[in-house]
Amino acid sequence: MFITLEGPEGSGKTSHIPHLVEYLRGNGYVVFPTREPGGTSISEQVRDILHDLKNAEMHPRTETLLYQAARAQIVEQVIKPRLAAGEIVISDRYYDSTIAYQGYGHQQDLDQVRALVKYATGGLVPDLTILLDLDVEVGLKRKKQNESEWNRMDDHEVKFYERVRAGYLEMVKQEPRRWVVVNSEQKWEDVQAELKKAIVGRLKVKSQ
Ligand SMILES: Nc1ncnc2c1ncn2[C@@H]1O[C@H](COP(=O)(O)OP(=O)(O)O)[C@@H](O)[C@H]1O
Ligand SMILES: [Mg+2]
Repeated sequence: MFITLEGPEGSGKTSHIPHLVEYLRGNGYVVFPTREPGGTSISEQVRDILHDLKNAEMHPRTETLLYQAARAQIVEQVIKPRLAAGEIVISDRYYDSTIAYQGYGHQQDLDQVRALVKYATGGLVPDLTILLDLDVEVGLKRKKQNESEWNRMDDHEVKFYERVRAGYLEMVKQEPRRWVVVNSEQKWEDVQAELKKAIVGRLKVKSQ
């Protein structure tokens, strides 16, 4: 089973995943957590280029393609083999982030962006995608509390993030069976409980 967590900055993806992994392992599953962009040596090198604040001149198409390069590598080197071995892979972001940020955020042609992500992933679609949804300003405020994590991708105007959020919600409407939306303005513990419920529900369906 392939699970992805999506949502804007500060929505809680990175802080929730280790707890979900621990919970699932405690229930006997073999779980492999990963993150995008990154997760392989090549992909982490691409991540550094994408996040470097020095690269302010990067064009949205360059950005879009670099993400796909990092993604193609992790899909082939890590995600597909783990899934083939029967493991649960949980990824902190996946191709929906490209559609949300480079597509809706940067207002690139959505059909072209969708074609690119399909090429990069070889058509690998998650079994479950959870959107951690929250008000953009609340998310940015949380993120800013940890300035050391601030990177080039965070350095956009609020309007950009509003488009990203609206894009995510539109994507949920288009594929309601793949997505679960969790309100991440709730207390962290309540968000964690909803995440566990969503995953366990989907594991049950899959094992039937
Ligand atoms: N439900 C929550 N309530 C309050 N703070 C939260 C909540 N979820 C996450 N945070 C805090 O917000 C910050 C960003 O969380 P993080 O997990 O890094 O988000 P993301 O990976 O989605 O950007 C962290 O300091 C985290 O502790
Ligand atoms: Mg994060």
